[in-house]
Amino acid sequence: MKIWIVNGPSLNLLGLREPEHYGRETYGQLEARIRAYCEEKGIGVHFIQSNHEGDLVDAVQQAYFQGADGIVLNPAAYTHTSVALLDALRAVPVPAVEVHLSRLEEREDFRQVSYVRAACIKTITGMGGDGYLRAVDALEDYHARHF
Ligand code: DQA
Repeated sequence: MKIWIVNGPSLNLLGLREPEHYGRETYGQLEARIRAYCEEKGIGVHFIQSNHEGDLVDAVQQAYFQGADGIVLNPAAYTHTSVALLDALRAVPVPAVEVHLSRLEEREDFRQVSYVRAACIKTITGMGGDGYLRAVDALEDYHARHF
């Protein structure tokens, strides 16, 4: 199995950025933790982080063209605005799991809408970095059931 981990704007600033919402783990530490978890399971992993919406659309398309078996996606602020990302996810037959570090359900009204959710097999919120590991588990389960 090969999974792409796609992260949106300002997630590169994890650790520095609003630790009361996103914790103190840095992006590099999170990446290392996900990589180690996937290695243990024998899952290949590829990371993309971008602050640009079009790059995230490209990442979803590339995941398909390069034969990914799943996408773990935290679109960050684009979660709440991006029809383009929703359409990209719907365009490719690659299962995706939506992850948010913070518990969106307890935050501002504008964070209650997720455009991408409709194209994802599962949404995980409020588990911090562990949410990414649970998303890997969900994709592994999905793969075992469908292939
Ligand atoms: C986030 C939640 C979004 O509302 C926010 O814009 C982010 C991070 C999260 O992981 O909790 O950038 O996706």
